[in-house]
Amino acid sequence: MKLVTAIVRPERLSDVLEALFRAQVTGLSISRVQGHGGELEAVETYRGTTVKMELVEKVRLEIGVSEPFVDVTVAAIVGAARTGEVGDGKIFVLPVERVVRIRTGETDADAVTPIAPARVP
Ligand SMILES: Nc1ncnc2c1ncn2[C@@H]1O[C@H](COP(=O)(O)OP(=O)(O)OP(=O)(O)O)[C@@H](O)[C@H]1O
Ligand SMILES: [Mg+2]
Repeated sequence: MKLVTAIVRPERLSDVLEALFRAQVTGLSISRVQGHGGELEAVETYRGTTVKMELVEKVRLEIGVSEPFVDVTVAAIVGAARTGEVGDGKIFVLPVERVVRIRTGETDADAVTPIAPARVP
């Protein structure tokens, strides 16, 4: 399994979610974060030049996926989040040692595979 952590523009979130849904990637967590891309803006101070870090609002998605879904997940995010301007964000793919679905005790790939909703009789 992998944990795909993506930082994207908030205004691209709904398109990213739609692209992930189309790719059948539906288990995810989202949080609002403040970030910085690494650029340094120089500002003057009376003792000389210093730097400041402007923080910008971003959205972080965390998506646990089994191996066959890693590439489609990354491609869906890139396709939907990219504007071509600086600040589009980043995607980190991290190894995951273990996943447990608490309700069933299923582990690893089984635990990140969606379960069909129970049939209504
Ligand atoms: N190395 C990093 N580690 C953790 N988070 C990062 C890192 N780089 C960027 N981010 C997060 O991603 C957000 C967007 O980064 P950004 O797209 O500006 O990256 P960049 O490398 O400067 O690319 P670009 O040149 O397209 O601006 C940042 O505000 C921050 O939240
Ligand atoms: Mg940047």
